[in-house]
Amino acid sequence: VEAQSDVVLLRLDREGLDGLLLGDASFREPLVEFYKERVCELLLAKNPLMAALPPDSRRRLLAAAQVHRYRDAEPIVREGEAAGDAFFIMGGEVEVWRDEGGFPVFLDKLKDGQFFGEMAALQGGKRTASVRAIGDVELLSIEGATMEGVLAEHPEVRALFEVAMTDRASETVKRMEEAARIFTGV
Ligand code: CMP
Repeated sequence: VEAQSDVVLLRLDREGLDGLLLGDASFREPLVEFYKERVCELLLAKNPLMAALPPDSRRRLLAAAQVHRYRDAEPIVREGEAAGDAFFIMGGEVEVWRDEGGFPVFLDKLKDGQFFGEMAALQGGKRTASVRAIGDVELLSIEGATMEGVLAEHPEVRALFEVAMTDRASETVKRMEEAARIFTGV
């Protein structure tokens, strides 16, 4: 961004903004809406699966979404927990891992534009892995039932999610077998 004429800016760092956001709902709500429209809509559309949805469906998902922030190493979902929301990464990175006899087994690193938590959210059952923040992370959470509702109207996109989930599940099996081989020395 560059100035095209004389410009006076009010610059707020993240802490200052957080203070305002936490303090005053009348300030927070329009700002969160603005952020969803300007930033999240674009990032959601960059995800190839979400891009396959018509814009008004993406907007419906966004309207129902909550914005969350996590700090470095903070757990976001835990393997074995009951089903919950699906998450879209708006900024930063997360690590997906599983526990194998007390040892963490790395499964994947995901970054902005990617999603996680869709497996339990869409298929029910328990979380298939744990996810934690790498550095500061900003996420959108969407309730499983809301995702289900939108995807039910677009079975072709639901099918894309099914393929992505199958790929992740088979990658997990491969990684866990590899880890088991290393741990048992076979
Ligand atoms: P869910 O089971 O709801 O919660 C943990 C999430 O981690 C899971 O949904 C997927 O989104 C993600 N996940 C699980 N396995 C993998 C994998 N092999 N690669 C990338 N992400 C995964």
